[in-house]
This record gives sequence, C-alpha cells and structure tokens, in this order.
Amino acid sequence: MKDTFILAIESSCDETAASVVKNGRTILSNVISSQIALHTLYGGVVPEIASRKHIEKINQVIEEALSEANVTLDDLDAIGVTYGPGLVGALLVGVAEAKAIAYAKKLPLVGVHHIEGHVSANYIEHPDLEPPFLCLIVSGGHTHLVIVKDYGEFEILGRTRDDAAGEAFDKVARAIGLGYPGGPKVDKLAREGNPDAIVFPKGKLGDCPYDFSFSGVKSAVLNYINNAQMKGEEINRADLAASFQKSVVDVLVEHTMLAAKDYHMDKIAIAGGVASNGALREAMTKACEKRGYKFYRPSPIFCTDNAAMIGVAAYYEYIKGTRHGWDLNAVPNLKL
Ligand code: KG4
Ligand code: ZN
Repeated sequence: MKDTFILAIESSCDETAASVVKNGRTILSNVISSQIALHTLYGGVVPEIASRKHIEKINQVIEEALSEANVTLDDLDAIGVTYGPGLVGALLVGVAEAKAIAYAKKLPLVGVHHIEGHVSANYIEHPDLEPPFLCLIVSGGHTHLVIVKDYGEFEILGRTRDDAAGEAFDKVARAIGLGYPGGPKVDKLAREGNPDAIVFPKGKLGDCPYDFSFSGVKSAVLNYINNAQMKGEEINRADLAASFQKSVVDVLVEHTMLAAKDYHMDKIAIAGGVASNGALREAMTKACEKRGYKFYRPSPIFCTDNAAMIGVAAYYEYIKGTRHGWDLNAVPNLKL
C-alpha cells in the first residue's frame, strides 16, 4: 500500500511547530520553535507578540521539518493544521500558511482540534494503543476526563469548573516567585520538598464525581503565603510546591481511577502539558499497576505543544474523509 505523508502545523499558543508524519504513527520530523524566552520577560504569553513571532518563524520551521524528514511538498498527501482552540492571532498564522500550501500544491486541507492532537500524542510511541480508552487531558487551557470512543470521537465525563490544571500550576509558580512557565518549575522544585508538609484542599465536587476544581487549592496556597508573610515567617518553597502538586495530582488520579472503574475501562492514557509532570506520571503508573490497568503516556516532548501530535490526529481525520475548504478559519473557543 502507498505510504501517506502529512505535513502538520501547530501555532495555537507560544510554540511554532511543524512535523511530517508517515502513515499516522511514524514521526519523520518534529520541529518546535519555542517563544518561551520572549514571553518570560512578561510573566506569561503575550498574544500579540506570539502572533508576530509565528509569522517570523513559520516558513523556516516548515522548511526544517520537510528537510529533516527528507521529503518535499510534492511527496505530501495532505496538510494538517490546528484551527482551535487557542489564541486567535496565533492560530490564524498556522491556518493561513496551511491553506496557502494546500492551495498551491492542490492538497487536501485537514483542520485539527488541538485537544484531539494532545490525545493523539499517545499513538506515537504506543503502536498497540487503539480506542476505546480513558484519557485524562491536562493542559494550560483544558482539563478533561474523556472516553476516546474512536479516533477523534470523545465522550466527555468530566471537566474543570474553573482553572485548568496547568493554569493552577502557572499561577502558584508565579505566587512563589518561580516565574513563567510555571509547571515545569514547580515540578522541579517539588522534587526537593516534602509533599506532606502542608495539607491543601483537594477540590472535590459533590454533584459530578469526575469534574475538577482547582481555584480552591490555588487560593489556599495564596492565603498560606499571605499569612506567612504577615507573621514574618520564612516559607519553605520546595515544601509548598510539593504539597500543592500533591493535592492536584491526588485529585487527578482519584477521579481518573473512579471513572475507569465506573466505565469498565482498563486502558488509561494522559495527555497535555501537565502530563509531563513527574509526580503525576509516577502516581498514575502506581495506581494503574495496582488495579491491573494498562497505562499509556507520551514522552514529555510529545506532551507539551508540538506538531507531531497534530499530524497523527490529521491522519486519522484524513482517512475518515475529513476535508476543510478554503473558508477554514481559526476558532479560538472550538469545542471538543
Ligand atoms: O499542552 P500545553 O503545552 O499547552 C496548552 O495546550 O495549554 O500545556 C501547557 C501547560 C502550562 O500550564 C505548563 O505550566 C504546564 O502545561 N506544564 C506542566 C509541566 N510541563 C508543562 N505542569 C506541571 N508539570 C510539568 N512538568
Ligand atoms: Zn496544548
């Protein structure tokens, strides 16, 4: 059978990325140009700067992705691109670029949901993984517990009522002076701390056992810092980071295990930037081992934003027949 080559583009936030994916699961290249250093100056992503930087970088990133994969535009079967959710100006750069290439080379255009991309990152290194499975999606903008019923088909069991898990990590990191991007910094500092030093609330919701809420734990951390400052007490930042992280990780694992039991799922996956968190990966591994579930997680490089995951998702959409027209637009609040 003829091989299928997809060029995928991702520009929904602060990473300009392109990748060539063969037959849906083989990553021939994965080029990521991160803007982190630029946004660090402002303590978070500045949308206008992100869009401008994407424009500057996108052609170069695509050229690198093609040359690393040793393919030309003529070898491609389709162009995949993230069209939402994300920052509108940032998304538009990728969408316009994908449309231009697809139009010029008469190739099918496949728009991809960013979160479908994150879930699909699990297929890259797990050739045995196929739907159905349960997936916990934890990123900077999303926290969802879903059953992946088929490729690109989701049943949402739970979601966050307020902050996303990554957002909570970023806000707490800022409060304890770690700066942006917070998640990886909290993760690192927490390794030196005692997770049982401070007990923070776990954000349980009575009405939907699979929903999440992280604003309570975030406020508790802020109160803890304010109280200590008022009393002139020294804060052990490593203990604080470890204790906050534990309260988030415990809830993520508990809700996932409850859903697995209730829905009789024995294949569990995690996805999104927070899925690269060391404590979450360890706790999920243990919880799954204990119950005899098979646990899947992407390598950290495929957890945070990248275009390889978009290429994988685009492939499964492509073989299902999904095609977008030249009117494809960026949809900043695209629903799952
Ligand atoms: O999936 P992602 O790269 O972008 C979105 O789609 O949002 O996720 C970014 C989020 C940020 O909030 C970042 O702080 C968090 O993922 N993150 C982490 C870690 N690495 C990234 N959170 C906790 N531990 C990490 N190691
Ligand atoms: Zn993402």
